[in-house]
Amino acid sequence: MKGVVTSISGATVSVDIRGLQLYDRVYIGHARLSGEVVHLEKERTTVQVFEDTHGLSVGEPAEGTRAPLTVALGPGLLGGIFDGLQRPLLELQKQSGAFIKNSVELPSLDLQREWQFTPAKQTGEAVVSGELIGFVTEGHLQHPLFASQSGEIESISQGAIRLDGALATLTDGTQLCGWQNCSVRRPRVCGRRQPATTPLLTGQRAIDFLFPMIKGGVAIIPGGFGTGKTVLEQSIAKFADTDVVVYVGCGERGNEMAGLLREFGELRDAGGRPLLERTIIIANTSNMPVAARESSIYTAVTMAEYYRDMGYDVLFLADSLSRWAEALREISSSLEEIPGEEGYPTYLSSRIAAFIERAGVVETPTGKPGSLSMVLAVSPPGSDFSEPVTQACLRAAGAFYMLDTTLAHSRHFPAIDWSQSYSLFAKQCSAFFREEIHPNWQDLQRRCRDILQQEEALREVVEVVGMEGLQDRDRLLIFAAERVRRDFLCQNSFSADAFSTPEQTAQRISSILENHAQAVKRLEQGELLSDILKGSC
Ligand SMILES: Nc1ncnc2c1ncn2[C@@H]1O[C@H](COP(=O)(O)OP(=O)(O)OP(=O)(O)O)[C@@H](O)[C@H]1O
Ligand SMILES: [Mg+2]
Repeated sequence: MKGVVTSISGATVSVDIRGLQLYDRVYIGHARLSGEVVHLEKERTTVQVFEDTHGLSVGEPAEGTRAPLTVALGPGLLGGIFDGLQRPLLELQKQSGAFIKNSVELPSLDLQREWQFTPAKQTGEAVVSGELIGFVTEGHLQHPLFASQSGEIESISQGAIRLDGALATLTDGTQLCGWQNCSVRRPRVCGRRQPATTPLLTGQRAIDFLFPMIKGGVAIIPGGFGTGKTVLEQSIAKFADTDVVVYVGCGERGNEMAGLLREFGELRDAGGRPLLERTIIIANTSNMPVAARESSIYTAVTMAEYYRDMGYDVLFLADSLSRWAEALREISSSLEEIPGEEGYPTYLSSRIAAFIERAGVVETPTGKPGSLSMVLAVSPPGSDFSEPVTQACLRAAGAFYMLDTTLAHSRHFPAIDWSQSYSLFAKQCSAFFREEIHPNWQDLQRRCRDILQQEEALREVVEVVGMEGLQDRDRLLIFAAERVRRDFLCQNSFSADAFSTPEQTAQRISSILENHAQAVKRLEQGELLSDILKGSC
């Protein structure tokens, strides 16, 4: 379907091609810049171009494809670093240097790479679409491959295969291959949803102990400028106990992304493998095109769903969803849509809700349930949590880790505000922590929360009467609360303490609480406060 460019306004371009559908992919101009249809009228089709439109002029050719934006899914994605359109950045760098040039089309998967294939079917056997036909080993995972068509197998490969060849041929001549293209805007068709029951351990004491996350759940991390969102997201990406991590750097600084890549290459997981091997990184830094940023989270979540459908636990992290919403706002205003709150399009909250709905636990053809969890950073301007993006995320998310500017300024990291944050997953996780980690987990939690709450009330009294005006018992409580904050909730991501197993977490908090209980007992037995505190310091 061919036509010409009729008007250009930044990255929004009108073409005179008719018969296209919403979200069809279109190539614009002599440079063949890629874009997608975002608005349709009788005589005019509006295309959002993903690349820089400098130098494009009216009258240049345009070509519509009648196919939506897709990603290539197959073995070889793990360890990959892609842009918002799933172009492999390392390959791009080899071809066009450190700065991405326009209209470079590169295959996202290396189709010539050799894999060792173990068939699960034999010649003569019947196979139905979606059924397992064999495995390859990708890094630390067994990567199952499924049939895309039904029929009887005439021949099936074994041993070395390449993705550009067929894995199996059916008697009607259909070739089954090891990769597929999948539209990014629609959730991948999945099995029945299941309730989430297993905690997602992050290695962060404040999260695992006070506000646990669950496999298949969604957590948001709203925080003002410099409160530690990026560091917390990256720590979770490093230490979370999931099989696959998909990290989207959405409109964030390029040097942070570079730091992440360097660190992941060097860090190793418990099995001694580089962390990058289980990670897929999507980079759309602040200097990359805005329209590609809007699509980047969809590209990333589709890859995450692909691994979830194999029965793996996948964690999706985005830093930050606010930059994605800003991209949406920019696109919406260039389309002259009626603006809603703070200039965001009126469909902002339904878009966010639909996106967040892609998380969850599902049945998979392998028999194992697969989970997709999301941890999304949000940067509300001026730390105003009533702004639309934070509010829309809040409505859909199950855990809320609010980062507090005052805590961050006093170098209390992670700056999770224990009085405002919450997790709706605590109940589902409680059996696991009680049975597997510590029989008194809930009791420890309650005692820890109690101390922090009582301290908050006492702080107001201290402001009036000073520390000396407090009763000895209250002074002991303030002392214990300080220890909880300093020695338990604070966790420097750049030290050996960056990761804490749940057993270590339980041990640390029980020792602080036990010390406090002992101190209270000694006070009751008549010992002097100064003597008790001397021993505890
Ligand atoms: N867990 C942590 N341990 C130690 N230092 C931390 C931690 N979290 C944050 N910091 C410190 O705070 C600084 C700012 O953190 P970070 O870049 O993550 O903030 P941010 O919220 O992502 O900022 P922005 O709003 O600019 O994106 C870091 O450079 C680091 O020095
Ligand atoms: Mg940041």
